[in-house]
Amino acid sequence: MKQSEAKELIEKLSRDIDEHNRRYYVLNQPTISDFEFDLLLQELETLERKYPRFARADSPTRQVGSDLTKEFVQYEHRYPMLSLGNTYSSEELREFDNRIRKSITGPLEYVCELKFDGASISITYVNGVLTRALTRGDGSIGDDVTLNVKTIKTIPLRIESFKVPPEFVMRGEIVMPRAVFEKLNEERLKSEQSPFANPRNAASGTLKLLDSKVVASRSLECLTYFILSENLPHGNHFDNLSQASEWGFNVPSGMKLCGTIDDVINFISIWETERRNLPYDTDGVVIKVNSLELQEQLGFTAKSPRWAIAYKYKAEEAATRLLSVSFQVGRTGNITPVANLEPVLLSGSTVRRASLHNEEQIALLDLHADEMVIVEKGGEIIPKIVGVDHSFRNENSSKIEFISHCPECGTALMKNEGEANHFCPNYLHCPPQIKGRIEHFISRKAMNIEGLGEETIDLLYSKNLIRKISDLYDLSIDQLIPLERMGEKSASNIIRSIRNSVNVPYHRVLFALGIRHVGETVAKTIASRFGSIDEIANAGEEKLLAIREIGPKISASIISYFSDGENLEIINRLKLAGLQVKGESSISGTERGNKLNGKTVVISGVFQMHSRDQYKELIEQQGGKNVSSVSAATSFILAGENMGHSKKEKAVFLGIQMMSEAEFLRLLNEE
Ligand code: IVH
Repeated sequence: MKQSEAKELIEKLSRDIDEHNRRYYVLNQPTISDFEFDLLLQELETLERKYPRFARADSPTRQVGSDLTKEFVQYEHRYPMLSLGNTYSSEELREFDNRIRKSITGPLEYVCELKFDGASISITYVNGVLTRALTRGDGSIGDDVTLNVKTIKTIPLRIESFKVPPEFVMRGEIVMPRAVFEKLNEERLKSEQSPFANPRNAASGTLKLLDSKVVASRSLECLTYFILSENLPHGNHFDNLSQASEWGFNVPSGMKLCGTIDDVINFISIWETERRNLPYDTDGVVIKVNSLELQEQLGFTAKSPRWAIAYKYKAEEAATRLLSVSFQVGRTGNITPVANLEPVLLSGSTVRRASLHNEEQIALLDLHADEMVIVEKGGEIIPKIVGVDHSFRNENSSKIEFISHCPECGTALMKNEGEANHFCPNYLHCPPQIKGRIEHFISRKAMNIEGLGEETIDLLYSKNLIRKISDLYDLSIDQLIPLERMGEKSASNIIRSIRNSVNVPYHRVLFALGIRHVGETVAKTIASRFGSIDEIANAGEEKLLAIREIGPKISASIISYFSDGENLEIINRLKLAGLQVKGESSISGTERGNKLNGKTVVISGVFQMHSRDQYKELIEQQGGKNVSSVSAATSFILAGENMGHSKKEKAVFLGIQMMSEAEFLRLLNEE
């Protein structure tokens, strides 16, 4: 390879890996598997070893991927959070063992633990009390997610034991049990929110939510695997973790002491299948030197400890034949291509269908009819196709083309700029969209109308009794009774439930309308900022975009919804039926309160939701005082982005709380 080629390749690989890190840690939407990622990293490492002068000072081979975001206040880790060297082969494990045995003397013991697939967390305890929880961030500083972490039941908030070191850091993995993940995704799919790709993404996405109440509802768990302190109770990792288990931490019981590398390899092979019976995902085994003294002797490289390594299991794959591709139309008209496959056994279950995501994915795979495809099953609800075995391709087989018209109503499909998915724009008359919208309208989190399931909606639709959500309020018992499997009692229950739904609060009515991209949380936010549906309808782009959670995509969708005469007619009929289309917006200009009585607040940095002047006003309205410099008398700092360095240092020095914009707004709205 020429020097210039090597230079170019190193630059490209570094850029690509940076982007994959961002997709994994920040967006929670990785586009390649861990295995493919590790291959890229290995390729870069090899090239950098050969051409060290072309390696970037901040090369991804030298630092861990970063999960830092703008939404949280950041703090430095007392002990840097490193990653682990990893391998997919037992030969490399033996090399790891040889390397260690060469550099130490005396007996050696390993601890084998499962490698949990979630988001890592670092939790500081002072005098037995949980004081701060940080994400890994870039390894040196992490996002402060203390409020969210405090909602996780498997993390003790206070430990009462005389053996607890005055200060220690507990490291662990926050995971979402598979059952919780599947239920969450079902709900997200019902409300047309994009599902999480796997439990790991769901766990780390949840950890970064701004509303701790939602975090609390998601049943996250924390599995602890590493304790750091200047005053640890024991001289080895195994005993320290066992001690932590007595303090109430959730230390996984599978952890095992191994005297030889053969024992380690045995542990790995037992858990390769056994791990499927655990309630959460694991992607490998972590092998650690047990003695803390030996750990210290072995030390660290720039990125990882020399005394530990991760053995990673490859995600299970299987080859099978593609039978056909069908295109499904969702409630909001989204078109999803699905591959129908010859049934194949994968990770203990039979796979018949796999997601193909969108047109781009089909093109990337260069998919042809009747092809042999490779399916992979990670934690996803629907397995995905990760490759095609072209050697089996029949020369005459035709390329799979994306459809141009809706398979349900024949309307030409559309695609918004910058979006990957096609959709059917005929939302008022396309049958699955009409039925889907009604199903969404009556669902539990929307209008909560009981007794009306998918089947009854189908019947009502086929009998021409409903075409719009507002038609529900014109239904009578007499129209329902003649329907199949419907008695007088069920009919009257349904009508009663429809009538009762007029009491459902305004923000849920807004959610129930099924406006594209307006999910439950967005609906709540909008309802808290606009006093009525009419105000939203007349808001216009500028006012909508002034809300931080609302970007151009949501605002365009809201404007387009309210500019359609048929929708306005529906809303008028809902108003006549008595639905709640008004409510109190929570931040009104003149509201006074005492939530900040006697508090002295410093505002620093740049904010997303309101200007600094507006925050000053809000503080004063709530009985607080806004001052410009940090002192021991400061109650807390309202910390925005790019907060001044000296203010930050002083605040850390004085131990003054830094409150993020989201936390502050929460305090005003909820306390
Ligand atoms: S020990 C210095 N043990 O894997 C050693 N890590 O690639 C720190 N992980 O960031 C890590 N299970 O998030 C360790 N039993 C386990 C683990 C584990 C999962 C994660 C952790 C870490 C990553 C390393």
